Amino acid sequence: MDLHSHLIPDIDDGVKTWDESLEILSQLCKLGYKKIITTPHIIQNYYPNTPDKIRAGVAKLNELLAENNISMSIEAGAEYYLDDVFAKQVETKEDLLSFGNGYILIETPFMNKPLFLEEIVFTLQANGYKPILAHPERYAYLQNNKELIHSLNFLGLFMQINISSLTGYYSKEAQKTARYLIDTSQVHFLASDIHNHKHLAEVKKAIKSKLFQRCRQLPLLNSTL
Ligand SMILES: [Fe+2]
Repeated sequence: MDLHSHLIPDIDDGVKTWDESLEILSQLCKLGYKKIITTPHIIQNYYPNTPDKIRAGVAKLNELLAENNISMSIEAGAEYYLDDVFAKQVETKEDLLSFGNGYILIETPFMNKPLFLEEIVFTLQANGYKPILAHPERYAYLQNNKELIHSLNFLGLFMQINISSLTGYYSKEAQKTARYLIDTSQVHFLASDIHNHKHLAEVKKAIKSKLFQRCRQLPLLNSTL
């Protein structure tokens, strides 16, 4: 199963059409995926999506899959950006879009760690959620700070590596950090983060890599979702 993708058209920077989404899903089905949790961005200044809007998109995708005899299920999730609006929603215990047994996917700016990251992780956990940090290997503030990686792990923040980071698709630094997370068993999930056909091609390449094979020996949690 996969827990990170952008497969609802026109609500973020992911796929542009239902056809594109359907084509990518049918390819993922051929690769052996049975369940896809799709996670549109929720970023107030760019993509102010709501759980209801995402659920409606997922319902349509499931209809399209059934019509086209693709046996796979799609579930709704979101990739929450840690902005002030999200911080407020967490603080006021607003209903957030989680999947599985309370998992919630979060992302941060690429350069700098939000000052309130640890506090938000703690509050989410206190509210019964299990936060997962999307692609930690891509954040500059983690690439240069192994101690911070350890301390976030210690807080119980789950880590999700993008499969395409394993071949260096995003950057050498991201690949190096992914390798470090794998070597030190600090990765809990692997995911595609597919936005388009190009990303699908990169994932197909990366699942043939040696590093991907090594991940299969880790106690990953994907199958628990
Ligand atoms: Fe994403």
